[in-house]
Amino acid sequence: MNRTKIAGIGMYLPSRVVTNNDLLKYMDTSDEWIQERTGIRERRYAHRTNETTTTMGVEAAKIAIERAGITPQDIDFIVFATLCPDYYFPGCGVLLQRAMKMKEIGALDVRNQCSGFIYALSVADQFIKTGMYKNILVVGSEKHSFGLDFTTRGRNISVIFGDGAGAVVLQPATNGNPGILSTYLHSDGEAAEILAMYNPGTHANHWVGQKLADFNEAEIGDMFMSHEMIDKAQNFPFMDGQSVFKKAVVKFPEVILEALAANNLQTADINMLIPHQANLRISQFVQHKLKLRDDQVYNNIQKYGNTTAASVPVALCEAWEQGKIKEGDLVCLAAFGSGFTWGSVLLRW
Ligand code: UT7
Repeated sequence: MNRTKIAGIGMYLPSRVVTNNDLLKYMDTSDEWIQERTGIRERRYAHRTNETTTTMGVEAAKIAIERAGITPQDIDFIVFATLCPDYYFPGCGVLLQRAMKMKEIGALDVRNQCSGFIYALSVADQFIKTGMYKNILVVGSEKHSFGLDFTTRGRNISVIFGDGAGAVVLQPATNGNPGILSTYLHSDGEAAEILAMYNPGTHANHWVGQKLADFNEAEIGDMFMSHEMIDKAQNFPFMDGQSVFKKAVVKFPEVILEALAANNLQTADINMLIPHQANLRISQFVQHKLKLRDDQVYNNIQKYGNTTAASVPVALCEAWEQGKIKEGDLVCLAAFGSGFTWGSVLLRW
């Protein structure tokens, strides 16, 4: 059985910086509220028309591929994680394959929101382990700024999210480096609707009430996307932030401790924890709970906001570029989010 290593890593953040004060133009909020509750000072927004979730993923992928010392034509599988794809379908994987002029390789899209990159890494790891593929590109990319409610009504969500992309190239590990030690994935769909974007969708209000017994063909269309939905802002994400927060601070430590126990390791052995950048207060809670020092945890939500599937690879890339992760270091990646889904990846760099 092969082991999997990260052979190259890259990130892309759009150049437009949006500060908390910039958001005051659109909604009733304050720099003080946002920093106090989330730690966020600013975030990046993609260019409205020239940049998409896929094009940002391509920019991150170019760097990861170059750092791995290979070319786009060497990639033999793509896993693309996002919650804001360019199209409802097809997914971003094929758009990236086209944009990077790759061979007719497989392209898989992962829809696991904040834990999307962890899920994507885990899937790719299995393909490397079995020997099926040798160079897998794993991407997490998000263009949230295109789909947020920028009125006061949507302020609890819109101030949090930012745009960006991260990517890694996975290869079989060499030189005795064990690479990825374990991946653990979990879900609990009991509260699927408390952090969700309902429309457009095929639920026909089955889960969210107002189920209609009889309807005609025209009404089916209306239930997918209607003027009423837009008027009621039902085409924007919904979040019960406090409930998400409460679950996150339990599941983050749990899944990290699960990984450490399985590998006979302790929290003191972690050189760098890269938590999904959901909220600085959640990361601080996890750090405190696991008794980790400041130098054992990397956070950059202050600059980029919550970039969901992109947050872990962006933070990992930035920490590595700053020399905070060195060869042989024990690195733990962990994420929790909508679904709920959560997971961890423990690896030797
Ligand atoms: O990555 C995906 C997973 N997501 C998460 O992990 C998010 C977890 N949850 C959170 O991070 C926090 O719940 C939030 C940062 C989203 C919200 O913080 P909170 O302390 O839970 O605030 P809240 O939603 O309970 O709202 C408290 C008050 C409300 O006003 P009233 O009813 O007390 O008068 C809100 O209307 O804060 C108000 N509020 C705001 N005020 C200024 C909500 N959003 C804002 C805002 N600016 N942007």
